[in-house]
Amino acid sequence: EKDTPLTQQDKYKEIMSNFPRRDDWVLQPLYQYQGFWYFQDYLVGLLAAQENFKPQPSDIVLCTYPKTGTTWLKALAYAIVTRSKFNDSENPLLTKAPHDCVPFLEIDAARNASNRDPEIPLVATHIPYNSLPTSILESGCKLVYLCRDPKDVLISMWHFLRGKLPEGIDKDSYINLNNSFEIFCEGISSNGPYWDHVLGYWKARVESPEEVLFLVYEDLKKDTVSNVKKLAEFMGYPFTPEEEKRGVVQQIIDLCSFDSLRNMKASKSGVYSPDSPYTIRNTEFFRKGTIGDWKNYFSEEMGARLDQIIEEKLNGSGFSF
Ligand code: A3P
Repeated sequence: EKDTPLTQQDKYKEIMSNFPRRDDWVLQPLYQYQGFWYFQDYLVGLLAAQENFKPQPSDIVLCTYPKTGTTWLKALAYAIVTRSKFNDSENPLLTKAPHDCVPFLEIDAARNASNRDPEIPLVATHIPYNSLPTSILESGCKLVYLCRDPKDVLISMWHFLRGKLPEGIDKDSYINLNNSFEIFCEGISSNGPYWDHVLGYWKARVESPEEVLFLVYEDLKKDTVSNVKKLAEFMGYPFTPEEEKRGVVQQIIDLCSFDSLRNMKASKSGVYSPDSPYTIRNTEFFRKGTIGDWKNYFSEEMGARLDQIIEEKLNGSGFSF
């Protein structure tokens, strides 16, 4: 008998009822699977993706921990890959939100849908390296990983989760900053521990530099041109000298800048993934887009404490923030 989407979801929910569970990141419980913590709806998608996802032959997978700059990476990769398809005034990024241009593989898998456009070899995921669907690892798809200063990731995530709460409730009693800090430091967060997410992709990058590109949000902000060129080259869409002369690199950077994306109509009024558990206003993906906003929320001591934890966890890997 063929599984309907609903019974498959029920099957996953039953499986995960046996997983370790934490209830202190208040929105929903977190379940532990293969060493990482997930919200239930997300974990349904991850399990479905592991079972069903099939990449397209030339796929490039954009891999991130949530709130590390996924929206930006999606926009940049999409603009790079499609630049010869559309002229400047026609790029879909002008009318569609980046998350509607590049789908998340686990969210589609959860909904038993495929939003893939066969012309676009891009798909995104927040799944940690070791839990990626084997179909991806076996296909030799290129992976692009983007990570970010953990202190800013936590602040960004804290705001994002608060943004999901209904209007009019006392947000502090649901998601308290100090409590979020403590459990993040313990490694309990959606798709966390953050450091293990980073380490998984970093190790893959060390083993197979031709298959994994490892980018850092702060570098991308400070030296956007050279990082965007590196991204284009790695994906197999290098800029020609003629394109560089015409200013194509800068045009792409400008199209995908925080202010440009944030001010698009689709970002201002659109909703991500309507009729799903992931629904959220697109405005929530654009908050400040800066480096070091954590200083407006954490004391220096808290920052130093998180830095020290991360340093210890990454020690010996060859990567540090
Ligand atoms: P802040 O909350 O610190 O502002 P993700 O896309 O992975 O959900 O990450 C969201 C974070 O990236 C938010 O960080 C958001 O403001 C920032 N961001 C979104 N678009 C960006 C862009 N084009 N350039 C730089 N940062 C961007």
